[in-house]
Amino acid sequence: MASVFFTLLLLYATGVSGVPQLEPLNVTVLRGSEARFNISLSEEWYSMSWMLKTVLVLTINSGTGVSEHNRRFAVTNYSSADIYCWEFIIRDVWRNDTGDVSCGVQEKPTQTAQLFVQESGTVRIVGGNMTVAQGHQAIFRCEASGWFPKPTVSWVVDGVVVDQNSYNSSSEALDGLYNSISLLTVRGVNSVQVKCLASVSALTTPLSSSFYLVVEPHDWTVLIAVVCSIGGFALLVLLILGIVFCCKRRKEAKSSYQKEMGRTGSQIQMSGGAVGQKQGKENPAYVIDGQTTGVTHSEFNDSGYIQTNYTKHFEIPDLVNGNQAANGHASAYNILGGTGVRKHRHVTIV
Ligand SMILES: *[C@@H]1O[C@H](CO)[C@@H](O)[C@H](O)[C@H]1NC(C)=O
Ligand SMILES: *[C@@H]1O[C@H](CO)[C@@H](O)[C@H](O)[C@H]1NC(C)=O
Ligand SMILES: *[C@@H]1O[C@H](CO)[C@@H](O)[C@H](O)[C@H]1NC(C)=O
Ligand SMILES: *[C@@H]1O[C@H](CO)[C@@H](O)[C@H](O)[C@H]1NC(C)=O
Ligand SMILES: *[C@@H]1O[C@H](CO)[C@@H](O)[C@H](O)[C@H]1NC(C)=O
Ligand SMILES: *[C@@H]1O[C@H](CO)[C@@H](O)[C@H](O)[C@H]1NC(C)=O
Repeated sequence: MASVFFTLLLLYATGVSGVPQLEPLNVTVLRGSEARFNISLSEEWYSMSWMLKTVLVLTINSGTGVSEHNRRFAVTNYSSADIYCWEFIIRDVWRNDTGDVSCGVQEKPTQTAQLFVQESGTVRIVGGNMTVAQGHQAIFRCEASGWFPKPTVSWVVDGVVVDQNSYNSSSEALDGLYNSISLLTVRGVNSVQVKCLASVSALTTPLSSSFYLVVEPHDWTVLIAVVCSIGGFALLVLLILGIVFCCKRRKEAKSSYQKEMGRTGSQIQMSGGAVGQKQGKENPAYVIDGQTTGVTHSEFNDSGYIQTNYTKHFEIPDLVNGNQAANGHASAYNILGGTGVRKHRHVTIV
């Protein structure tokens, strides 16, 4: 259905109306390349002329053939039984060819298309490979010269297209050609390839210039050295502080220990004195009120003394054995029992 429609449309455009069909209507090519246009018509014709801007460059006579006025212009016959079709070719197009391309078939309305000729210039990153210390920035300068129209300059860093807002481009026109400068700032993280691309629409593959950003890990070593030295210094300070603290504490502990030891020593001496006598010493002056004469043996058992007095004295080595202690108790009791006085004796068990 669609093909039928388009066939009818083509018939209307070419055969039915008799108006020649020129296509394409807009051709953009690079200087030095070829530009091609087709004219097709269904009606019988005898004379066809092609014009570039206002200059007649080629004529075709159905009887006598092609008469070119310049070797840059040529035609190819694509005619078939149904349709007359001629291709017009402009070779080695010039910048000043930009303009109208028209085809006139006898007295039929002239068909006009547009020809745009672009210029592909050069692109280069100025300065070549750049070396920066890690973390520092490198500014790449790309120069695109001799382009028409204004070239599109873009950057690719490490295979990734750089966002347009990340670089600045400026252009100036000189003798009808554009020179562009683009500046890209790259932070040195690791070594990457930096590519500058310049293009115009007629160029299928952009022209490019690439160099390397070489990142030296110089700053790292410095940083590591600084960190290490600071860390080392801090560690040293900590160590010294620790040692001083430890010494101080030990000294304090020693002094308190000595104090303690002094006390204990005297106690030991005291008890030692008691031990030296190898018998529990009586304290005849010690009187407990309310205590009656009936001091029984049970009050002087070992556990009673242990729990009530001189518990600390158990730390003292067993200079006196149990028998001696028992003897002490016994003698003390005997003394007590002998006198019959209400006295409470304190015996040191060691
Ligand atoms: C023809 O191409 C040029 C350049 O590519 C463009 O500026 C212009 O708008 C186009 N014209 C038409 C009618 O498509
Ligand atoms: C012109 O028409 C011929 C035949 O259909 C085709 O081969 C050629 O590519 C056309 N040229 C252009 C510029 O469209
Ligand atoms: C163009 O080609 C057609 C078909 O091949 C042929 O009939 C016709 O004579 C040719 N025209 C010229 C001027 O060569
Ligand atoms: C167009 O430019 C070419 C060279 O590029 C030159 O030879 C020619 O004279 C110029 N034509 C016009 C009309 O300026
Ligand atoms: C830039 O660096 C690359 C890779 O390191 C090297 O192959 C190339 O020769 C260098 N170019 C210049 C101009 O130094
Ligand atoms: C682009 O230029 C403007 C003004 O000169 C400046 O403020 C901005 O920082 C530049 N940007 C880059 C990515 O160089």
